[in-house]
Amino acid sequence: MSNVISFEVVENTAVITFNNPPVNALGHAVRSGIVDALDKANNNVNVKAIILIGGGRTFPAGADITEFGGPLLEPGLPEVVNLIENQTLPVIAAIHGTALGGGLEIALGANFRIATKEAKIGLPEVHLGLLPGAGGTQRFPRIAGAKASIELMTSGTPIRASAAHKLGVIDKIANDNLLDSALSYSNTIIQNKLPAVKTSERTDGLQDKKSNKEAIENARNALKSKAGGLHSPFRIVDCIEKALNSSIIEGLKYERDAFIDCLNTPQREGLVHAFFAERKSSKVPEAGRAAPRQLEHLGVIGGGTMGSGITLAALKSGMQVTMVEQDSGSIARGIQNVEKVLDRDISKGRLDLSGKAEIMGRYTPTTDFQNIAEVDMVIEAVFEEMEVKKAVFKKLDNVVRQGAVLASNTSYLDIDEIASATKRPRDVIGLHFFSPANIMKLLEIVIPSNPYDDVVATGFLLAKKMRKVPVRAGNCHGFIGNRILSIYGELAAYLVEDGATPEQVDTAVRNFGYPMGPYQMFDMAGLDIGWANRKAGASSRDPKRRYVSIADRICENGWFGQKTGKGFYEYPEGIRFGVENPDLKQIIETERSKKNIIPKQFSEQEIMRRYMAAMINEAADVVHEGIALRPSDVDVTLLYGYGFPRYRGGPLKYADMYGLEKLAEDIKEFEKEDPIFWKLSPLIEKLIKENKNFDSLN
Ligand code: CAA
Ligand code: NAI
Repeated sequence: MSNVISFEVVENTAVITFNNPPVNALGHAVRSGIVDALDKANNNVNVKAIILIGGGRTFPAGADITEFGGPLLEPGLPEVVNLIENQTLPVIAAIHGTALGGGLEIALGANFRIATKEAKIGLPEVHLGLLPGAGGTQRFPRIAGAKASIELMTSGTPIRASAAHKLGVIDKIANDNLLDSALSYSNTIIQNKLPAVKTSERTDGLQDKKSNKEAIENARNALKSKAGGLHSPFRIVDCIEKALNSSIIEGLKYERDAFIDCLNTPQREGLVHAFFAERKSSKVPEAGRAAPRQLEHLGVIGGGTMGSGITLAALKSGMQVTMVEQDSGSIARGIQNVEKVLDRDISKGRLDLSGKAEIMGRYTPTTDFQNIAEVDMVIEAVFEEMEVKKAVFKKLDNVVRQGAVLASNTSYLDIDEIASATKRPRDVIGLHFFSPANIMKLLEIVIPSNPYDDVVATGFLLAKKMRKVPVRAGNCHGFIGNRILSIYGELAAYLVEDGATPEQVDTAVRNFGYPMGPYQMFDMAGLDIGWANRKAGASSRDPKRRYVSIADRICENGWFGQKTGKGFYEYPEGIRFGVENPDLKQIIETERSKKNIIPKQFSEQEIMRRYMAAMINEAADVVHEGIALRPSDVDVTLLYGYGFPRYRGGPLKYADMYGLEKLAEDIKEFEKEDPIFWKLSPLIEKLIKENKNFDSLN
């Protein structure tokens, strides 16, 4: 028997335990092991019932995702689940942790399910571009009906054991010791000869035909706007509908075909890549070499947009926070920024008054820097000006205890220069949050020349506490994300000056899968920020490099986007998405005529060909220069900070799927028009020469 499955007989019950840490994924060895163990149980005359239980922290959390895309190794999961269901002995699934995907499907193959009250069950395959492919779409609805099945499978969100018990999917909630409870349940089943009904023969969920039919229709309608470009949610609904109207054999076959259909999509490839990329990004050399420092009490400098968002993220993760502002008016605004969000949480029922009181008890607003003398880490979020930041760090150096980590939330500035204002530059790093910092998942951890390993490790610990997705970034202008953004932002400006409208660019980018286009995003973030940045960089700009002044002309009118009611779009009172700015056409035409540009027509495909080429080329340079540790870290950055569609995996995964040779041809074609902006990244050239792709560097 394989060592990932163990077998023992306790009284009259065979206990089959999954031992495949960390999450008991159902890889080939586990599947074969189950078959062998069932065989062994059947060959033992003393065995009258079988328990399936997870060793370690969980019942199986699903198929082994690393096997997707490779050859299908027998026995497949559907066969294993069928085998479980066809046992003559009663089978009990004893669930703790998270029974997800194939794990829950195994449990549905059993006749009885007992779970701890903390356990969760779910069918999250939709997050991987898939559907439950081992009978989940056929068995779950037979117990729980269409509505609950659709909710579980199209959202991918797990439910608690108590909710699953109400649905009839869990038969019994265990006492403290799961195995003891399961064994006693087994004895009851054996002694009372409880009927071991197969899930595929259950009809409880099929009775209310009218509401099941309505649930299918409603789901199809809702998905038209809610599916976000995903294919698999539609196929999930098809499969559930099939479960309502067909025999189990027909239904399982239908599900298998739909599963293979989803398995072969680029969406599945992109989403599985995103799953592993996200988990890899926290694996960095510094954290491997050193343990993090103590991290309980955070000092935050500035209570503006970012300072208050960071404060909220830290408070919600259970930390103590002291916020420092420059004067009483500013700290009052800082407090208001924090309370506003907590009050909204209360109004939405996500928090109660005592919860707010508890959080506010860990929050100390002040205007006195002395109050952060004893904190473990400080994050500075003051104005984006080098001299202001350096003055703050000088003060921190004088006030804050030795051993504390000093961090800046700067978007673009040089962390080494900021660190040079202190006598302890090796304790300084960048922690680049995204707005709103209490919501956005990305945290770029920016590494200056030579920080202590444990300083970097503490940055990663902060991300873990706050449940952020951390990415290690080198110290350059804009780090990973903003550096790449400034290049495709520039390209978007070229497109408009050359003939496209901002609406056309935004529509193309949205149709590619982004929630919004770049011009909508600029208007939302505020055009003044970019304007200030361009003015600051004017003296160092290459005079030969193409420069588009349209955004400057807009800003000169005092139009800074949403906050002033006008930018690339106009925002009449009460409107959420912008409408056309009637003055923009004139501005664009004037700028074009100054350069004698005859406007061209751009198809959506052409817009995206250029937009993606610019993004990928810069992303490749970011990897080439070591600013990102690996291509998947760039993907994670753009997925979590910039709205890149997850089902495309990130720009460098997309590049692999698009084809590097084709991409290089595009770039060389554009280089003929503008050899200064377009220079093929040496990394792309190298990968093509070596017949490799970006994924080979992950
Ligand atoms: N296959 C392979 N590896 C997996 C895995 C899976 N199903 N689930 C998790 N892992 C790995 C992770 O990559 C990670 O590896 P490293 O330590 O090397 O980075 C490790 O297990 C721990 O995972 P997390 O860091 O995510 O741990 P967590 O405690 O934060 O979360 C979890 C645990 C909730 C189970 C989470 O890992 C998760 O959501 N996993 C995916 C669950 C899933 O999607 N299951 C459905 C699979 S598809 C399926 O089953 C198809 C089918 O119907 C036939
Ligand atoms: P903001 O203008 O909303 O807030 C800055 C706050 O700093 C103000 O409340 C100000 O009173 C305070 N402040 C200034 N000098 C101070 C001092 N010496 N001591 C204490 N407080 C002081 O600015 P915002 O948007 O919060 O930006 C802060 C930093 O975060 C900047 O470096 C910015 O580049 C960066 N950032 C901003 C993002 C955004 O989307 N707004 C995103 C990511 C980073």
